[in-house]
Amino acid sequence: MLYSLQAGGKRIRPLLLFATLKAFGIKPELGVDTAAAIEMIHTYSLIHDDLPSMDDDDLRRGKPTNHKVYGEATAILAGDALLTLAFKMIGSISPDIADANVKLALINSLSEAAGAEGMVGGQVADMEGEGKKLTLKELEYIHINKTGRLLAYSVLAGAEIAQADRSVKEKLSKFAHHIGLAFQIRDDILDLEGTEEVVGKPIGSDTGNDKNTYPSLLSLDGAKKALTEHIELAKQSLTTTELDTTLLEQITDLIGLRNS
Ligand code: IPE
Ligand code: IPE
Ligand code: MG
Ligand code: MG
Ligand code: MG
Repeated sequence: MLYSLQAGGKRIRPLLLFATLKAFGIKPELGVDTAAAIEMIHTYSLIHDDLPSMDDDDLRRGKPTNHKVYGEATAILAGDALLTLAFKMIGSISPDIADANVKLALINSLSEAAGAEGMVGGQVADMEGEGKKLTLKELEYIHINKTGRLLAYSVLAGAEIAQADRSVKEKLSKFAHHIGLAFQIRDDILDLEGTEEVVGKPIGSDTGNDKNTYPSLLSLDGAKKALTEHIELAKQSLTTTELDTTLLEQITDLIGLRNS
């Protein structure tokens, strides 16, 4: 569990949560446990995603994948335990940081975002789509769920901790939808254009697994155009919130331009 958690990674999801808290003028300390929980779920998903029965990759965060070091059985169990621990992290938040209603909302929405109708559902559709030609709508479903939902949760958890009202949550949810999609489109592009040293994972994994990706459906240029559009739409959604979204805007630009 520690091997994969401490292997590095950009920590973009915690960053999104802290930037959302900042938009509400709330100190980051209030989000630390939830941010750690998100990073645990994300790391478990990477350990399982790299397994031979899934994407079968040997490198992650610049290091040999978990199963390469510890074997498949331990890698599966490390993932299981990270997933479980994530919920304990939120369940154990002290009452002076979040009251019981906020904790319950954080737990429920995390379970929705990560589970069968969120990240796991997207991963299933991603696997089932291998070797088939999907429509753009079907691929969008995969990207929104396998990747977008946990990124969106990172923003919405910040809004939950801030006890934002429903209309602000809806605006942030629109923003989160676009950055989630943009993040995976950029990931697809990096699988073709990136370098292993910078990305820290194998290049060409998607092509090798006959995956549907934005570049495979729309061409590389088409994928880049779609990426720019979602970045722009994300930024437009932010302007409707009337919050101080400077940091969120900077992270949005980073998502569009990232090389790792
Ligand atoms: C990789 O996520 C998996 C996807 C959802 C595309 P990240 O690119 O956030 O991976 P780390 O955490 O920085 O390693
Ligand atoms: C995985 O998407 C998303 C997860 C939920 C782990 P990818 O399979 O494209 O992620 P990478 O490229 O291996 O990081
Ligand atoms: Mg995958
Ligand atoms: Mg993968
Ligand atoms: Mg990928």
